[in-house]
Amino acid sequence: MKKNLLTISALALVTLGFQNCNTDNQLPSAAYEPKLELPAQEYDYKAGVQAFIKDAHTLNPKLVSSNLNSGFILNGIPQFLPSGLSFNTADIKNEVATLGRVLFYDKKLSINNTIACGSCHLQSKAFSDIGDVSVGFKSVKTTRNSMSIANPMLTNNLFWDSRSKSLQDMVLRPVQNHIEMGMDNLQVLTSKLQSTSYYPSLFKKAFGTEGVTEDKINLALMQFLASMVTHNSKFDEGSKTKFNNFNSLETMGKDLFMSERLSCTKCHTGANFSLGDEVSFDNPYGGSGDSGPNGTANVGLDMVYKDNGRGNGKFKIPSLRNIELTAPYMHDGRFKTLEQVVEHYNSGIQAHPHLDANLKDANGLPRRLNLTPIEKTALIAFLKTLTDTKYIADVKYSDPFKY
Ligand code: HEC
Ligand code: HEC
Repeated sequence: MKKNLLTISALALVTLGFQNCNTDNQLPSAAYEPKLELPAQEYDYKAGVQAFIKDAHTLNPKLVSSNLNSGFILNGIPQFLPSGLSFNTADIKNEVATLGRVLFYDKKLSINNTIACGSCHLQSKAFSDIGDVSVGFKSVKTTRNSMSIANPMLTNNLFWDSRSKSLQDMVLRPVQNHIEMGMDNLQVLTSKLQSTSYYPSLFKKAFGTEGVTEDKINLALMQFLASMVTHNSKFDEGSKTKFNNFNSLETMGKDLFMSERLSCTKCHTGANFSLGDEVSFDNPYGGSGDSGPNGTANVGLDMVYKDNGRGNGKFKIPSLRNIELTAPYMHDGRFKTLEQVVEHYNSGIQAHPHLDANLKDANGLPRRLNLTPIEKTALIAFLKTLTDTKYIADVKYSDPFKY
């Protein structure tokens, strides 16, 4: 009898979008308790972030520059803080980031315990997803391809439509999103987490008290995200050694990528090969793109867009870090391979009225690059130098739950 009731209310919760419910006990799987395995000593998230910052600083002493809107030096460490971030990277606490890691991988953050952030952001795929569009807690498809996560603390421009300006603002959005995780009542979430065996002690370690609050969940997820730094690719190594670690194909690809003819760096620029980032390494890829507000651009995928993104078919200029691992590509995952992406830029650009100027020829028509086969291969070889295998193997970003 009791079981029946539970099933019915659970069903009602799911179908009604969880409106009038305020106790965790009514959830069908409140008893669901995944097995958590954490080391006795926290991993050093802070040191990782500081190594990243130092690396950037060494690469470019001028880094703490004008386009860092909150650029300042704290304890000798330049702070790269997108506006709105309520903590300094120097304040990253390993216990808080550890809690963030647990939250990131915990399916309990979804209404029916089926999905975690880590279900759509897979470490092996540089925290992107394999499907063309991601699938949420009710097996309903989201409309967009899940984005990879790469140095998110550098950006003030999140999501395909650039709708979020800070990590602080974005972290709980997927949890509340009806398709993604469906937990639109955050009070239910806090009491649900409070009643687990592991969160009270994790919150205590992180914040000194066992109480689970929305703000603390937010801060912990944010610190974990901020600690997700990727700067150990062949490209990064090369940028310190005049790229003498590149083979001839990669060098050819790099020169093409940087060239006026291809103008990839008009948009994919800075430390993240993205736009709208707060800082850039002093690498050869500096320079400012000018692609409409919020680091978005229309790259002429279609004449008529089903999803207009930021408006007029403009989408966030995504980071190209780890691009080899993040297929399928574009906001709707339409391209399965890098070859197809390159072919799009080579010969496939459509004459959309809002096509970005960088992708037009002198007559205002969609540009045709006429790349030779070897040039295409070289460009892809270069893109693959952005892969950071340490990042995808780093245990401090891995799933701590064992099933
Ligand atoms: C159901 C799959 C799914 C889940 C669950 C999910 N995400 Fe996402 N994530 C996406 C998709 C799809 C996008 C792109 C959405 C868009 O642009 O509208 C995205 C975008 C992001 C971005 C923006 C990246 C960028 O460069 O702009 C971040 C950061 C992120 N998610 C973190 C999280 C966190 C943290 C959680 C858990 C609280 C989470 N995601 C849960 C699918 C998911
Ligand atoms: C006008 C700005 C602009 C230029 C120039 C540009 N890109 Fe892009 N790029 C974008 C945008 C915007 C997207 C996402 C488009 C979408 O999903 O609708 C993108 C997507 C990509 C992707 C897929 C990323 C992913 O995560 O799905 C790759 C790879 C890429 N571009 C490589 C290149 C290369 C190589 C060049 C030079 C030939 C180039 N881009 C030139 C703006 C640009």
